[in-house]
Amino acid sequence: MLAIAVLAAGKGTRMKSTLPKVLQPLAGKPLIERVLKSCEKIDPDRKFLIVGHQAETIKQRLGESRRLEYVIQNPQKGTGHAIQQLIPILSNFEGNLLVLNGDVPLISQDTIKALVYEHQESRADVTLLTAKQKNPQGYGRVFTNKDGVVKSIIEDRDCNQEELNNNLTNAGIYCFNWKKLKAVLPMIKSTNDQAEIYLTDTIAMLELVKHIEVKNISEILGINNRLQLANCESIIQKQLHEYWMEQGVSFIDSSSCTLSEECSFGIDVIIEPQTHIRGNCTIGNNCKLGPGTILENVNLGNNVNIFKSVLKNSHVDSNVEIGPFANIRPGSEVEKNTKIGNFVEIKKSIIGEGSKVNHLSYIGDAKLGSNVNIGAGTITANYDGRNKHETNIGEGSKTGANSVLVAPITLGRGVTVGAGSTLTKNVPSNSLAIERSKQLIKANWKPQK
Ligand code: UD1
Ligand code: CA
Repeated sequence: MLAIAVLAAGKGTRMKSTLPKVLQPLAGKPLIERVLKSCEKIDPDRKFLIVGHQAETIKQRLGESRRLEYVIQNPQKGTGHAIQQLIPILSNFEGNLLVLNGDVPLISQDTIKALVYEHQESRADVTLLTAKQKNPQGYGRVFTNKDGVVKSIIEDRDCNQEELNNNLTNAGIYCFNWKKLKAVLPMIKSTNDQAEIYLTDTIAMLELVKHIEVKNISEILGINNRLQLANCESIIQKQLHEYWMEQGVSFIDSSSCTLSEECSFGIDVIIEPQTHIRGNCTIGNNCKLGPGTILENVNLGNNVNIFKSVLKNSHVDSNVEIGPFANIRPGSEVEKNTKIGNFVEIKKSIIGEGSKVNHLSYIGDAKLGSNVNIGAGTITANYDGRNKHETNIGEGSKTGANSVLVAPITLGRGVTVGAGSTLTKNVPSNSLAIERSKQLIKANWKPQK
């Protein structure tokens, strides 16, 4: 039998944030999501999340559907006190309890699996993850006897000068024999600098304590402040950049670009500086992205060139040019061989194959057929102050500069709209629509003094 408890009740004071620490985002995902994910290779009988500070916010963010049992720790008197909350819940439980701090986000699934496996094999009272760190400041120090058996953990702030020199640190991830832990949990004292009930104090009370030293230090980095958060962010970004470079993606200046773990790229993609690819994105072959571009939940075909633009929750087919300064908002479908030019906003619209929206336009709630040419400054007036309405423009139609199409409105195929027209009525196929007063000329006229 195996149960998991993730500790997420603390405030995260050192973060100086209104957001609970475990919800701080790292490469777009909250820390707690990452810790929960690290346990996905093991199949526990029960899974607890200990929450306290802003418990509701955390519950809302994570949702209900994960077989997670929320346990409230109120007030928060330390990591040992957090686990004490499980005593009544696990009164009849026999087996092991895997405990993870909710702020150690880079731990890998394989390391967790190895920890559980080795603990089960050795039948120790507890097995914990440790690492030798160059700068162990802030971490609990792990003390072993000369045979390498763990004897105690002393928190950084409770160490004397000599103890501080020990650089074997506690990762905050442990697999306990629950019966043995349950017996000592009520005995933890709070005689330490923070007057808290420390889970780490149980180590000295248990008999057979093993540890697994993790070689990849980044796996056990804990996050207490924004500096450590930024450090973990750059570790993730560097890993992603290196991975995608190996897969055939070029970066001009990778340090200025961020990727999410959920994006994927074809080959011969060039990512120019200050380009950020977020959420779930799929990028085809031969795309050139940036400089200065943001993509969020976007699919791109092949040969798409996007320059200084923002695209969200949209689909772009192959051979498309976008930008500079285009804003493609959610729900847009940009079909192949199209061009979206400068200062163009597209919202929830279909831009048909071969169409061009080259300059200074707003196209919202519109369906453009193929080979439509939208003149500079054309606006679809989709909002009447209460509701949004659709605009349909048939294949091969052209709008003149500064046209306003007041929706709901349908232009047939092959329609031409005269420059400066404000259209409020449908236009049949193959016709010219023009709405403009006659130009007046007054001969030999000068401004009056
Ligand atoms: C803890 C360990 C330290 C270890 C380090 C690794 C203790 C006493 N110390 O220190 O040995 O080297 O992690 O990163 O355990 N939490 C609760 N309830 C509480 C207090 C904390 O749920 O009452 C949660 C926090 O939300 C956090 C985790 O426990 O997710 C760790 O707490 P934190 O205060 O960050 O412990 P550290 O000082 O980092
Ligand atoms: Ca911590």
